[in-house]
Amino acid sequence: MSMAEFSPDLISILRAAQHIAVLTGAGVSAESGIPTFRDAQVGLWAQYRPEDLATPEAFLRNPKLVWDWYAWRRGRVSQVQPNAGHYALAQMQQRVAQFSLLTQNVDGLHQRAGSVGVIELHGNITRVKCSREGIVIDRWEETGETPPRCPHCGAGLRPDVVWFGEMLPREALLAANAATNTCDVFFSIGTSSLVEPAASLGRVASHRGATVVEVNPTVTPLTTHATFSLQGPAGVILPALIKAVWPS
Ligand code: OAD
Repeated sequence: MSMAEFSPDLISILRAAQHIAVLTGAGVSAESGIPTFRDAQVGLWAQYRPEDLATPEAFLRNPKLVWDWYAWRRGRVSQVQPNAGHYALAQMQQRVAQFSLLTQNVDGLHQRAGSVGVIELHGNITRVKCSREGIVIDRWEETGETPPRCPHCGAGLRPDVVWFGEMLPREALLAANAATNTCDVFFSIGTSSLVEPAASLGRVASHRGATVVEVNPTVTPLTTHATFSLQGPAGVILPALIKAVWPS
């Protein structure tokens, strides 16, 4: 992608921006080799839909299955590296007075690329919590049981991620709403804009007159609300955009 392909209006809006908020989804990690949520599952897991594994009901029904799926995904995450899109967002943070990175991803790749203060709306797959008390557990005894048990109360341990039907962490949601309500530019990158409440943030930003920029190879329900729709992979578009806006 060359500089000439970006609208001069977009370039000047970004140069003048005081507060940029960015919402990311699974698409931003696709080029690192992590399948997006709504892509077909691979291998062993191809017979399950993520929507049927990422729920409290699935964990109650079959805690071993859910634990093993997350253990597999955790293994994937530990084997991959951040991509050019993650690095471009870490660079963007250094160029603007205020920058808020809101992510639905649980893979920690933004942090590994150097982004700081990342607001994790759906938790983090590397953390584990007690399924009864909700407290994060750092150490437990491996007894061969799957899932392992909470050392305090004996309940099963689960990943510290948000499942369908669960509330988002309060602090993260408040921070996301505040950023959406005060930014002058809102980016929606690599998300299908289907899962609430994150899906509404772009529309809220648009209604209050912020410039909304979508980066996604396909159209989503947000596309018609976007001021600029940049169609393509985040790992290609974002580095080119940074170069066009802040060439030095
Ligand atoms: P989805 O899998 O729903 O959507 C991924 C989006 O990324 C799609 O719109 C793709 O077109 C786009 N995409 C694919 N490759 C891309 C690339 N290289 N660059 C940019 N975009 C690309 O994932 P999310 O929108 O993140 O929640 O899903 C939202 C939530 O639903 C997830 O956090 C998870 C899921 O179920 C929970 O587990 C609670």
